[in-house]
Amino acid sequence: MARVELVGVTRRYGKQTVLNPLNLTIPDGSFTVLVGPSGCGKSTLLRLLAGLDSVSDGVILLDNQQINDLDPADRDMAMVFQSYALYPHLTVAENLAFHMRAKRVKREEQHSKIARVAEILGINSLLNRYPRALSGGQRQRVAMGRAMVRNPRVFLFDEPLSNLDAQLRMVLRAEIKALHQRFKTTMVYVTHDQVEAMTLADQIVVMRDGMIVQQGKPLEIYDHPVNTFVARFIGSPPMNLLEGQLETRQGKPGVRCNDYWFALPARWHQAAAQQDQQPVIVGIRAQDFFLSDTAEQPEAQVKLVELTGESSLLHVEWQGFPLHVQFAGRIAAEPEQTISLGINTDKIHLFAAQNGERLTISAEITSQSAC
Ligand SMILES: Nc1ncnc2c1ncn2[C@@H]1O[C@H](COP(=O)(O)OP(=O)(O)OP(=O)(O)O)[C@@H](O)[C@H]1O
Ligand SMILES: [Mg+2]
Repeated sequence: MARVELVGVTRRYGKQTVLNPLNLTIPDGSFTVLVGPSGCGKSTLLRLLAGLDSVSDGVILLDNQQINDLDPADRDMAMVFQSYALYPHLTVAENLAFHMRAKRVKREEQHSKIARVAEILGINSLLNRYPRALSGGQRQRVAMGRAMVRNPRVFLFDEPLSNLDAQLRMVLRAEIKALHQRFKTTMVYVTHDQVEAMTLADQIVVMRDGMIVQQGKPLEIYDHPVNTFVARFIGSPPMNLLEGQLETRQGKPGVRCNDYWFALPARWHQAAAQQDQQPVIVGIRAQDFFLSDTAEQPEAQVKLVELTGESSLLHVEWQGFPLHVQFAGRIAAEPEQTISLGINTDKIHLFAAQNGERLTISAEITSQSAC
């Protein structure tokens, strides 16, 4: 069992408040991913959990026991850093044994633990090498191994894969996921990588300026971002945000973006009718457009085309707005070309222009569940 709870946790450095009173529950066996812009307090939160830094206020609980004053070594939490932080003068085997030696674990037990972890991570052949003779991916495996031999109750990962190339990141990402599925150890994982966050997490926690803006299952957050900040932060490319206005025409609730008006799907009708003429921000994911060959859809000027092989990303100007538009497969579009672009209006998001908050989310959910 390892359930972690932060209650009113605050961290101040001098006059700067880095973590505002923060409440967060990390369920036993969960994979919690922390994301947020640089400087929002993710590493600080991990360091507080690991005991490498102390809280200014508030309580950290591990299975309902306060651990604020426990030494890092007594917390049973193992941290893996972006920089690997291996001891350069020790071999891989000695790096793996380091913590066990300090704890005076018996030699045979040390050997068997090292052998088991080396087997799982595929680093058997590297045990006698020094870190300088390892590639980035191998170093990262050793860093993970060093955390694993401790059999911790909680793993803390601070951007463990960000120094690696894309292919190796993918391999190790899958290994970390497999490890979690196998051992179900509670994990708290910081990343800037959208794919890692979406694929690894049971729960994503989106932070901004030392506060939690939204937490939930990855697809819940992707489908229902609570505000424009989360809408742009989760998902790649970021969601397009267009200024518009709610406008009912001929009895149909809709939205006008510059000169283009479109009807809203039924689930928005109630909210839109109540707030007619209100300025809004319309959120449209790059994938929620379609190419049309009828003149009914507005035209867009292609500015830039990025082909990855499996998808085409177009940068276009549409109704005076710069947009990212993405299609599966290959689109034969050229810069300066004009295309006719429709919106999959079922998929749009609406936010209040005033404060960027998702519009009447309760009405949206009620009508969705009623459908
Ligand atoms: N020891 C310290 N003294 C003063 N300020 C600090 C200290 N450690 C961190 N900070 C500040 O706390 C804020 C949060 O830092 P933190 O390292 O937690 O950010 P982060 O979310 O991990 O960012 P990144 O994504 O860039 O790693 C930053 O403004 C940072 O400058
Ligand atoms: Mg950090």
